[in-house]
Parts: sequence; C-alpha cells; structure tokens
Amino acid sequence: MFFDYADSGAWTEGTYKANEADFAAIKLRQRVLVDMTNRSLQSTMIGETVSMPVALAPTGLTGMQHADGEILAAQAAEAFGVPFTLSTMSICSIEDVAAHTTKPFWFQLYVMKDRTFVASLISRAKAAGCSALVLTLDLQILGQRHKDIRNGLSAPPKFTPKHVWQVATRPFWAWEMTQTKRHSFGNIVGHAKGVGDLSSLSSWTAEQFDPRLSWSDVAWIKEQWGGKLILKGIMDPEDARRAADTGADAIIVSNHGGRQLDGAPSSISVLPEIVQAVGDSIEVHLDGGIRSGQDVMKALCLGAKGTYIGRPFLYGLGAYGKRGVTMALDIIRKELDITMALCGKRDIREAGPDLLHHRLPVVEAEPARPSQ
Ligand code: GLV
Repeated sequence: MFFDYADSGAWTEGTYKANEADFAAIKLRQRVLVDMTNRSLQSTMIGETVSMPVALAPTGLTGMQHADGEILAAQAAEAFGVPFTLSTMSICSIEDVAAHTTKPFWFQLYVMKDRTFVASLISRAKAAGCSALVLTLDLQILGQRHKDIRNGLSAPPKFTPKHVWQVATRPFWAWEMTQTKRHSFGNIVGHAKGVGDLSSLSSWTAEQFDPRLSWSDVAWIKEQWGGKLILKGIMDPEDARRAADTGADAIIVSNHGGRQLDGAPSSISVLPEIVQAVGDSIEVHLDGGIRSGQDVMKALCLGAKGTYIGRPFLYGLGAYGKRGVTMALDIIRKELDITMALCGKRDIREAGPDLLHHRLPVVEAEPARPSQ
C-alpha cells in the first residue's frame, strides 16, 4: 500500500501520465565535434550550491517506504550535494532528521487551521537550521487517489487480513520496521493539540488543513519564517506573477505529481509560459514527471533553474534504503552528464532553448501519383 501511495495519481491518473509523456515528446539537438572535456553539472538553487540542479522533493510517508526513510534520504542527499526537502507529513520529525544530518535541509509546510501549530512548525524548522521553507499551495484538500482508498492506507498499517498478508510477504521491510520506533507522523503526533494517534493522512487533511489559505497567509508565513521561501504548486502564469509579487525566492511549477487536480496539464507543458510570465523576477523550479537526467536537461532548457524528483528517489529508497537513493541520484547524474555532452555543452548552466530540437514531427509523405 505504501508503494501504491507513491506510485499513484488522482482519479484517472491522466495528469500523472501526462507529466511523463510530455517529457518524452521533447527532442534534443545533437551536436558534434565540440570539446567535451571538463564537464560540470554544478549550479545553484535559491543561491545554494548544488552538485546538480536536482533536489529531493517533499514526499509524505517516506519513512514508510523504508524504515527511517527521511533520515536515510536526507543523508544520501547531503553526501551527494543536493537539497533534501522534508515533508510536513513525514514519519521522522524535523528534529530527528536534523540530529542525523550535518548540513541544513529544506522543510515543506502545509498550512493547518490551527495557526499556533503552524507557527510552531515554522519555529521548529528554524531551530533545526532549515535553510528554506517550501510552502505547498495546492493541497488544502486532498485529491482522490483510488489505490489508497482500495488499500485502506494508514501509518502504521492496519491489521486486517489483507494488511497482514502485505506485511508477511515483505519480510525485509517488516523486519526493518520492527527495528525503528518511527511509525507515525513525527511532526504532528505529540505536537498538535488533541492529536495523540494519527494514522490517516486523508482524515487529518480533511479535518485540519485550512481550505481558506490565501495570498495574505503567504505574507504572514513569509514574515514568521524570515528566510528563503519557495512557493510550490504554481501551474498558471497569473498565479506565477502573484507569487513573484510576494517576494518569495522561487516558485515550483508543480501539479503535485498528478496527485491533486487530475486533468491539469503536465508541469513541463506549462513551464515556458510561466517562465515568460515572471521573467527574471523570481527563480523558477519544476517537479512532476522527472524520471531521468534527460528530463532534467529538458526542464533546464525550457527555463527551470532547478528540478525535483519524488518517485525516483522513493523507488530507490524502497528497494535499497540509503544506497538506493544514492543510486537513483547517480543514475540521473550520469544521464544528465552524457546528455549535456552529446548536446555539445560542458556546463549545465548553459542549458537553454537552443539545445532543443524544434522541428515538427515528420509528416507522412503524400502517396506518389499514379503515372499517366
Ligand atoms: C502528499 O503530499 C501527497 O501527495 O499525498
């Protein structure tokens, strides 16, 4: 059920699929006979140096994909030199991840009705030394994901025969889970008023997330936080301009991995119009559909300064723990490096629209006319 949670989108999963398919339709321009030595993937995201412009996205329930998942992923990201973003709905708490890492990570915030609790989450992130706050704008109500309903998703898992079977057939996962005490929402349980036992992300969202979240709340959060702020979930040029007006440091063009508004366009398809709308007034990042270094390259060519991966690192984490996250990052790094070289560039910061192939798909030739 945790794999399904990561591997699903809302309703028909049309947007989830489009996120990937639209990347595949973009073609790169092959160049030859250019010097390919001394290549560099190093860049910056919100002023922080990154070994490649690929951050780990905030993903809920990461500590259920593998025991202590958030700590392991944060450690892998730190060693790799890319940002790790901890979700509000993580299993390991902010303090716990901070205690097991040495460099600042980013914290993703969901806004609840209880503003005292929101303020306390912000101060906890500050106290833990987080270097950016990623405010999610597109999940004040939860998109419906059929697989989660079918699976009766909860953390820790329930003990119906179906769930017992799922656990019994994953002995390694189950064994690791018995070796950790981290089984519930670490940032919430024991911190939010009246929440002693929280098992379901969907019921917590329905009760606690504030559906009135507005632009004035963004100003309030910016003031409370006082540091680098990233606004996540922008899919429209008008919203992008408003986001830039808030004085935030970056926006993430994102449809939440196709998990919220099914029927929304893919993130990559709206990136160009958003980049055009905001110009240089705010840094633009992108998530959704990035499965390879080639996808990273395409997003950078279309104007993103940075990208995020969610599912790719979760697959690695679920399979091999920390080593799996490093493997996922390594695969992407290699693909990005080779792609950049074959496009004739040596520095990833030079990625731009000139590296894309714009010719229209080949149209079938007309059948030859019968000779007379
Ligand atoms: C949470 O962010 C989710 O998409 O489930």
